[in-house]
Amino acid sequence: MTIGRVKLLCLLKPLSQQHSDLLKATAIVLVIYAVSAIFDLAEHFTRWAAPLDAYELDELPVLMLALALASVWFSHRRMREIKNEMQLRAQSEHALARLAQENQALARHAMQVQEEERRFIARELHDDMGQYLTAIRLDAAALANTADAKAASHAQRIISHTAHIQSAMKGLLHRLRHAALDAHGLLEALKTLVEEWKAQHLNIHCELALDESCNALSHASNIVIFRVLQEALTNIARHAQASHVSITLAITDTATRPAVQLQIRDDGMGFKLTASGYGFGLTGMRERVEGAGGTLHLINENGLQIHVNLPL
Ligand SMILES: Nc1ncnc2c1ncn2[C@@H]1O[C@H](COP(=O)(O)OP(=O)(O)O)[C@@H](O)[C@H]1O
Ligand SMILES: [Mg+2]
Repeated sequence: MTIGRVKLLCLLKPLSQQHSDLLKATAIVLVIYAVSAIFDLAEHFTRWAAPLDAYELDELPVLMLALALASVWFSHRRMREIKNEMQLRAQSEHALARLAQENQALARHAMQVQEEERRFIARELHDDMGQYLTAIRLDAAALANTADAKAASHAQRIISHTAHIQSAMKGLLHRLRHAALDAHGLLEALKTLVEEWKAQHLNIHCELALDESCNALSHASNIVIFRVLQEALTNIARHAQASHVSITLAITDTATRPAVQLQIRDDGMGFKLTASGYGFGLTGMRERVEGAGGTLHLINENGLQIHVNLPL
C-alpha cells in the first residue's frame, strides 16, 4: 500500500466518526419526539403561547424545521468540502514522497557521475601529465649535466619546479582517487588515509578500530565509507580544534538486518547549526549515505560524533 493511500485512510477516519454522530443525533431527535408525544408538549406550548398571538409564536415549529433543513444542507456541504480537501492533501503528500524519492535517485546518480569523473581526471593526470612531467624532468637532468653553467642552473630550477608539481599532483591524485581503495580494499585504504592525515596533524591523537570483516563490502559501500571519513577528517582539521579523534568501523547484526556502522568522534568544539545550515561537505556526506539506503546522524556530545549506518 502506498504512503498516499495510507494517509488517505487515516484522514478519512473522521468521516466514519461523523456517520456515527449522525446516528446518535437521529436517536436523540427520536427520543425527544417520543417524550414530546407522551407529555403533549406542543399542546402545552400552544396553550402557553395563546396570549402572545401577536408575536406569531405558533409559526415556530415551521421555522425550526426550516432551520434544521438548512443545517443539514450546510453540514453536508462542509463534509464534502472536507473530504475533497483531505483527498487533495493526500495527493500532494503522495506527490511529495515521489519527488523525494526522485531527488534521492538523482543525488545517487550525481555521486556516481562524480566518482567516474574523479576516476577519469585521476587517470588523465597520472597517465598523461605524469608522463610529460617525468620526460621534462629527465630532459632537464640531461641539460643540467652540460658544460654551460647558466643552462645547467636553469635546468636545476626546472627539475625543482617539476618535482614540486609532481608532489602536488600526487596529493591531488590521492584525493581524487585513493589508489589503495582499488588495489588493496577498504581497510587498507582507510588505514592509509588516516596515517597520511595523522602525519599532517601531529597534535591530534587519532585512534582507528576496524573490523576485519569489513573488507568484503560492496564497491559502492566502500566508496561511501571512504568519502565520508575523508570529509569528516578534513572537517576535524578545519573546524573542530580537537585533540582526540576516534574512528570505528564494524558490522552489526541487529534483529532487523545486518549493517555496517562507521562512527567518527572528536573532542572538539562541536557542530553549531548556523543560519546557512550544513555546508556542501556535510550535505554531500548525508546524500551519499542516504543514496546507499543508509542513515547519518550528527550528535553533539563533547565534540561532534558522526554515526553512519549502511545496510548490507
Ligand atoms: N567536526 C566538526 N567540529 C565542529 N564543527 C564542524 C565539524 N564538522 C563540520 N563542522 C561545522 O559544520 C560546517 C559545515 O561543514 P561542511 O558541510 O563540511 O562545510 P565546510 O567544511 O565547507 O565549511 C562547518 O563550517 C563547521 O562550522
Ligand atoms: Mg567540510
